[in-house]
Amino acid sequence: MSQDIYPVKPHIAERAYIRSMDEYQRLYRLSLDNPDWFWGEQAKAITWFHPYQSVLDSDYEEVDFSWYSGGRLNASFNCIDRHLPDLGERTAIIWVEDEPGVYRHITYRELKHNVARVANVLLNHGVRKGDRVCIYMTMIPDLAYAMLACARIGAVHSVVFGGFSAEALRDRIIDAKCKVVMTANEGLRGGKKVPLKKTVDRAVEGMSLVEAVLVARRTDTDVEMRAGRDYWLDEECHRQRSTCTNAWMGAEDPLFILYTSGSTGKPKGLMHTTGGYLVYAAFTHRLIFDYHPGDIFFCAADIGWVTGHSYIIYGPLANGATTVLFESTPLYPDPGRYWRIIDDLGVNVLYTAPTALRALAQAGDSWVKKYRRDSLRILGTVGEPINPEVWRWYHDVCGDKRCAVVDTWWQTETGGVLITPLPGVTPTKPGSATLPFFGVKPVVIDVNTSKPLDGNGVSGALCLASPWPGQARTVWGDHKRFRDTYFSTYPGYYFTGDGVKRDEDGYYWITGRIDDVLNVSGHRIGTAEIESALVAHEAVAEAAVVGYPHDIKGTGIYCYVLLNSDYQNGDAEQLVGALKQQVRNAIGAFAAPDIIHIASGLPKTRSGKIMRRILRKVASSEYEGMGDTSTLAEPDVVQRLIDEHKLQHP
Ligand code: WT7
Repeated sequence: MSQDIYPVKPHIAERAYIRSMDEYQRLYRLSLDNPDWFWGEQAKAITWFHPYQSVLDSDYEEVDFSWYSGGRLNASFNCIDRHLPDLGERTAIIWVEDEPGVYRHITYRELKHNVARVANVLLNHGVRKGDRVCIYMTMIPDLAYAMLACARIGAVHSVVFGGFSAEALRDRIIDAKCKVVMTANEGLRGGKKVPLKKTVDRAVEGMSLVEAVLVARRTDTDVEMRAGRDYWLDEECHRQRSTCTNAWMGAEDPLFILYTSGSTGKPKGLMHTTGGYLVYAAFTHRLIFDYHPGDIFFCAADIGWVTGHSYIIYGPLANGATTVLFESTPLYPDPGRYWRIIDDLGVNVLYTAPTALRALAQAGDSWVKKYRRDSLRILGTVGEPINPEVWRWYHDVCGDKRCAVVDTWWQTETGGVLITPLPGVTPTKPGSATLPFFGVKPVVIDVNTSKPLDGNGVSGALCLASPWPGQARTVWGDHKRFRDTYFSTYPGYYFTGDGVKRDEDGYYWITGRIDDVLNVSGHRIGTAEIESALVAHEAVAEAAVVGYPHDIKGTGIYCYVLLNSDYQNGDAEQLVGALKQQVRNAIGAFAAPDIIHIASGLPKTRSGKIMRRILRKVASSEYEGMGDTSTLAEPDVVQRLIDEHKLQHP
């Protein structure tokens, strides 16, 4: 293992903010020993309307964390207005349209005007400080305007990924009690139209909660507009001034809610606050991507997920960077798309997910080599464990062995990156997220004894022992759920849900989720959500969902279903199609099952608990080492499942 270390690149080390591993170690110690000092220093990068009284107030017992209490600031001011005197004409956002080769540059000054108009539209529709606004769009500039407009007036945005179904959108609108929904007539992605407004219509059908639907215009397609509820955003904006005061927000006032899946129940709305989140997003963006003025930063994630919130919008814009907003997909119109954008725009940093890299690697090197890519310095990855072969391909082929690869581990809950190399500082190992960022204290917990494991060469559950400013503060409307989900499994620690290994050098290797959450193409999906969608179908008596290794997606979705007796002799193929559709309707196309296994039984213990370990093995075509099956109520079921699996999915 230790021979597979990639040393830092001198040309990247040259301008890095941290000069050496010694300096990293020294500062890291200081950040843990004296968080007040450390995070007080970092808060200086943000403009405060009113100074805070204390850096950190925390009561771990109560799961109560406050950063920069008493401080007043505004995220929109920090991302826009404060840059205007010097950087007004600098490009804030480069919108890369779905159509290849079409780019639109939006300066900081234009951004201000657009955001202020949208903010005034929201005010005009009665949105006030603390009100929630749901944003359901694809990757268009209006999405950035909408988020920053909310931040400007102190409204709380809840962005829902444009791939979610009407049902999923409806649940999220209701949970956060959103007063206004912002959407577009249609989205455009990979040459296909996304019927956003139609989906919103179905989601808010019969709902009195939503007072207005504001519709951005992305295509020429006309959509049904309901009088008194639906308004074209451009028409509304034309009536508004391009100036709007930034509300003075408390550091702990909510900035946004973002939903994510867990192992049980409905998705949770993680709530992030203004001060700590912004300090953390800006600081991590600057150090981990070695941001220097003039750099062009391309995070290819969707803003519907946290990566886009922190590293397309808040982090880069707070730093005055030029950030790329990419409407399309890495494969449209061909697998050369990323590299073409990089050459066209002179991109310095690319940040994407292993699932995209696997698909690109499979398409072959020629798509990469067709382009020069000589502006690139840093290649980031996030969302799931990266296979070492793919890491090397990213490094050797995409980066011509010249760029630093940063494998960044974090979560919706963490607000920003927690475990990562620092480019030009940390020697890397393919597949390892390496070492903790400043202020982050990872702990490996033995899952059997629930005790922390000291020293190196250990594996277990990944927990965090101390708070950091970017951490989510609560689950919207349910602090008990927040406490129970994250702070009760291992008292005194935040439990991430991930498994981890700390190797002989103290490097961290994330091994993936150890709860009932699947990571499919970097999207987090709870098995319980898929199961409840399946059992809602009249044919299904019982369902159990597990993951299995998938070449491109990382994890594929494998569903075992038991049918009600009336359906057992029906057309299986048709039923499988209907069940896949059922999950698309409940969650969205990205959660569609890969495999539906119509099973004759499930491996249950005598007390009725499903042994998922066995289901995972069969789904992965691993038939050996099932472990102890003596507690099964019906031991024969294992062989039957194996036979069915071989027959249905050879
Ligand atoms: C889960 C969080 C945070 C941005 C996108 C996902 C997995 C994330 C890595 C990485 C291995 C990773 C974890 C984590 N994950 N980054 N670099 N290496 N695994 O956010 O939807 O909240 O999912 O993604 O399992 O818990 P998310």
